[in-house]
Amino acid sequence: MTSRDRVLPSAIEAIGGTPLVELTRLGRELTGSILAKLEYLNPGFSKKDRIARQIIEDAEADGRLRPGQTVVELTSGNTGTGLAIVCGIKGYPFVAVMSTGNSMERARMMRALAAEVVLVDQMPGSVPGQVSGDDLALVEQETQRIVAARGAFRADQFRLAGNMRAHYLHTGPEILQQSGGRVDAFCDFVGTGGSFAGCAAAFKGHNPLIGCFVVEPEGAAALKGQSVTNPAHRIQGGGYSMPTLPLLDLSHVDGYLTVSDADAVAWARRLAGEEGIFAGFSSGANVAAAVQLLRGAYRGKRVVVMMCDSGLKYLSTDLWP
Ligand SMILES: Cc1ncc(COP(=O)(O)O)c(C=O)c1O
Repeated sequence: MTSRDRVLPSAIEAIGGTPLVELTRLGRELTGSILAKLEYLNPGFSKKDRIARQIIEDAEADGRLRPGQTVVELTSGNTGTGLAIVCGIKGYPFVAVMSTGNSMERARMMRALAAEVVLVDQMPGSVPGQVSGDDLALVEQETQRIVAARGAFRADQFRLAGNMRAHYLHTGPEILQQSGGRVDAFCDFVGTGGSFAGCAAAFKGHNPLIGCFVVEPEGAAALKGQSVTNPAHRIQGGGYSMPTLPLLDLSHVDGYLTVSDADAVAWARRLAGEEGIFAGFSSGANVAAAVQLLRGAYRGKRVVVMMCDSGLKYLSTDLWP
């Protein structure tokens, strides 16, 4: 019996257990197949609900989080939405610190979920909708200030193991179970690297031959070791131009793929128009990268990707003309 077959005590228990769908229409022009994990069906419409639950429950379990203590985190909106849901239900006040460069439906949604949202202006000259590493550094400064001022628990998604563990314990094993363990490759657009790290660890544990590929924006492939020429790309939720990420285990990285803004947009639109999958920029980037694998070394194979969040989060952008 899955969580979908019974009455649940709260929306927290509705996190995870998302469907895995083969992209058969897009697959017609490819040799091989793409399996898409519909993470936008989580209660907060993104995969980040999973890490919100894991980070909070790990901290409750070992006493780092006290009853009623304020929780603070820097977010592009999705982790904040997950934390707003989990903290709201469990009774922790939650403060989300976000760049004004992220789409504003995210801030409105977090406020609706009873979070306090602190918006941090972008660097002079930055473009709304394009959050750079420098913009993120300003958000980090403000987050640290609020944590100190309020004696809060920092739900630090870039460093806490709960981020990776959520995907190692749940997302990865769900994919293996749903696919009968038949996965040849996995590629993932990286922000904190938690999804990649957790799923790759689960996949490598099952079969070390499953190829695991980091996806980065064209012109911002810092993890690949390239110099950053386009920090202000449009693929929200990652591609922060950081050359290292604390949660990433490089021994699980089989290669690096880059995706242009235009390809991420084009595949997100095709996902919606041809597969009925209404997801965001990074989901489009993941499919674009999977197509590269199927047209290259993984021709005829089975590639799995995540549909990270809902297309509804981008209605104020030009993703949807
Ligand atoms: C829409 C979206 N895609 C991709 C990512 C990257 O995921 P991760 O932080 O697990 O690398 C995020 C992270 O916030 C996100 O919000």
